[in-house]
Amino acid sequence: MANVAIIGAQWGDEGKGKIVDLFTDDADIVVRFQGGNNAGHTLVVDGKKTVLHLIPSGALHPNKLCVIGNGVVVDPEVLLEEITALKRQGHFMDDAQLRISEEAHLIMPYHKAIDQARERLRGEGMIGTTGRGIGPAYEDKVARVGIRVIDLLEEETFQEKLQRNIEEKNIYLKAILKEKTLDFNKLHDSYSVYREKLRSYVTDTSLLLDREMRAGKQVLFEGAQGTLLDVDHGTYPFVTSSNTVAGGVCSGTGVGPRHIHQIIGISKAYATRVGSGPFPTEIHGPEGETLKREGFEFGATTGRPRRCGWFDAVGVRHAVRMSGITGIALTKLDVLTGFKKIPICTAYRYDGKVVHDFPASLKIMQHAQPVYEQMEGWDKPLDDVRKFSDLPAQAQKYVRRLEEIVETEIILVSVGPGRDQTILLKNPFHT
Ligand code: GDP
Ligand code: IMO
Ligand code: MG
Repeated sequence: MANVAIIGAQWGDEGKGKIVDLFTDDADIVVRFQGGNNAGHTLVVDGKKTVLHLIPSGALHPNKLCVIGNGVVVDPEVLLEEITALKRQGHFMDDAQLRISEEAHLIMPYHKAIDQARERLRGEGMIGTTGRGIGPAYEDKVARVGIRVIDLLEEETFQEKLQRNIEEKNIYLKAILKEKTLDFNKLHDSYSVYREKLRSYVTDTSLLLDREMRAGKQVLFEGAQGTLLDVDHGTYPFVTSSNTVAGGVCSGTGVGPRHIHQIIGISKAYATRVGSGPFPTEIHGPEGETLKREGFEFGATTGRPRRCGWFDAVGVRHAVRMSGITGIALTKLDVLTGFKKIPICTAYRYDGKVVHDFPASLKIMQHAQPVYEQMEGWDKPLDDVRKFSDLPAQAQKYVRRLEEIVETEIILVSVGPGRDQTILLKNPFHT
């Protein structure tokens, strides 16, 4: 029996959704443990694309349980829309397929208003958030004024907390952010409707997971965002507001560390980033445009174009250490077809010195120059390749070299968005 965590090893959008969907075959339960609908996880099955924001990426498999853990911040409106959309496509017909933690915190309309207003006020210095209210919701959680799913279910508790929060947030919105205030009654009414629609899904998910694991069920933990966006270990302050590293699985689900057996880091064969913040290997020029076009690099949540760059081994090595990654799934190798030379960033150069470890200093990150090693490219399209030995020799070499530089085994190579466009070298559930 094995439980596996899937963690983003870069700045998000590494292809976690595809890999989670793929490994759901071997799992009984798929669990989200952090983030919210800032995530956009894309699944392509039989040519049909589905983008999930809150519901775990196991949702397209019938008879698999999907769990939203306590570490997730839940926008009930978005969640209900997502449930409806999945049902319309014939998934999730049994409500028992989805369980939501009582302890997950709710995203409220004032969180979204504050998130968006702050970004507007920051102007040039904006973080480039998704505007979904993620940061302000986690702030309230830590400030101990957040509203949890269980609080929503208890009418009196909800009313009391909402009243207090609205009063405070309206002062902040009006006086500081110069924004419109929110109406208690309107908000109360809409959340009362959500209460009844969500009630049947809510449970103690930590207890549920414990019971299921004791019964021998296998769990897949699905990370959102990526290690370099982790609030502690990423490019602070250009990060998200949760712990995206594997340690977040435990606090975000109520499952102890000894229950996580394999930790798979997902990394693109190059790098991308959405929003602001340092990105040492970013390409400003035609090769960046080629990556964007061939990799279809547009955000699955906001549609913003993703900034593109070369593989940054400093960042991925950092992710390997931060999460104790046991194997890497390398995605989008197909996108590199056609480049004559493919650079790999093995270290940074800053102030005349070579830097091997991911710096905490924003200043260093902003001015770090990548040290590149050049690899030979290949011309053959890879999307139909299903065996490692059928990859062009240069592509095989590229994968093997990445493996050496990040000192971690590559257990899977992805050559297209489809579930089947995968070269599986080692199944983490079978080790
Ligand atoms: P996530 O947030 O980590 O789940 O990733 P996203 O879904 O936001 O972005 C990854 C994008 O790359 C999606 O459009 C996927 O369909 C696509 N994708 C995943 N793996 C591959 C691959 O190996 N090759 C190509 N060309 N596209 C891929
Ligand atoms: P998935 O799960 C890529 C980025 C935003 C912004 C920063 C903070 O699809 O990989 P937030 O709204 O979280 O406060 O924004 O984090 N960001 C992501 N970038 N993929 C994501 O999720 C992201 N979720 C947040 O662009 O720079
Ligand atoms: Mg995404």
